[in-house]
Amino acid sequence: MQEKLPALVAVAPMEGVMDATTRDLITRQGGWDFCVTEFLRVTTGRQPARVFHRICPELRQNAQTPTGIPVHLQLLGSDPQSLADNACMGVKAGAQVIDLNYGCPAKIVNRHLGGASMLRYPDRLYDATHAVAQALKTLDTPVTAKMRLGYDDTELTLDNARALNAAGISQLVVHARTRAQGYKPPAHWEWVARIEEVVDVPVFANGDIWTVNDYQRCVQVSGVQDVMLGRSSMTNPWLAKQIKQHLAGKEVEQVDFKRMLGFLLEWLKLDALVYEEIVRVMRVKQWLVMFRLRWGEEAQIVFDACKRLTNERDLINNLESYIQHTVS
Ligand SMILES: Cc1cc2nc3c(=O)[nH]c(=O)nc-3n(C[C@H](O)[C@H](O)[C@H](O)COP(=O)(O)O)c2cc1C
Repeated sequence: MQEKLPALVAVAPMEGVMDATTRDLITRQGGWDFCVTEFLRVTTGRQPARVFHRICPELRQNAQTPTGIPVHLQLLGSDPQSLADNACMGVKAGAQVIDLNYGCPAKIVNRHLGGASMLRYPDRLYDATHAVAQALKTLDTPVTAKMRLGYDDTELTLDNARALNAAGISQLVVHARTRAQGYKPPAHWEWVARIEEVVDVPVFANGDIWTVNDYQRCVQVSGVQDVMLGRSSMTNPWLAKQIKQHLAGKEVEQVDFKRMLGFLLEWLKLDALVYEEIVRVMRVKQWLVMFRLRWGEEAQIVFDACKRLTNERDLINNLESYIQHTVS
């Protein structure tokens, strides 16, 4: 009998938010198995090493976060040759796994046949992925993929999954919504089960897993135990650890909003080494917007108090005051 492998929990790629600092701080909390970078868009030509290092500084450190969690490099494109060339350049720059983005809903990207728009053409999806897989074979490097269920609808979902499988991917993450569904809940985890039946590589479920309870429901519906967490990795960086505690039959540690704000203050200190104040202020507001999805009313109060602030000191004072003076 085959032994059951432990469940994996990954940090999702999130362009504009999930940078190296954020990956570092989130993975330090424990429970995470790997991360995927924000996408690097490739069109024509080969990108130099510095471009790969900008999007993924961890490539200089064995493609791992400071606590040793692997970071996979994500590429977005449609042209088989330039994807294959840049995948090889990425490996030369230090990447150990190349991930392909077939889910991005951005109009500008889709207009040029990148991201989710590839899901309209299973044959092109195959060609692009196969070119990368073949090129990386000689470098002994796996290629993985992340897909949505489709562009407008689910007509081609299974054809796309089969195409990726046949092209030589070694793992598939399914964001269980079409492009047309955007980020609107619910995620359709039942499709993960259908996809899992037609491919022979590990499948990860992704979309709307905010709590341990959601994880349990997702496992029941999708039949897969491996998951990738996007917005919830930022609104509860302890969720991977909580899921592992639950799976091990241990008591699940409790997390509250004040702890989350403390985490954000810690992140600001780290980010001060990377970004100017104006960028840091903008990014804190992005976090606060996301917090509302998980922490509701409490997050709304903090967001309202901070949304018009333009300097970092005021933001910090507000967050600290909420932590010190609000009774949970
Ligand atoms: C701000 C933002 C940026 C994203 N950037 C990427 C990206 O660069 N590559 C990618 O494959 N998916 C990207 N995604 C999609 C997420 O990886 C994930 O599939 C989606 O958020 C659903 O998972 P969640 O409900 O756990 O957040 C992004 C999502 C958000 C909200």
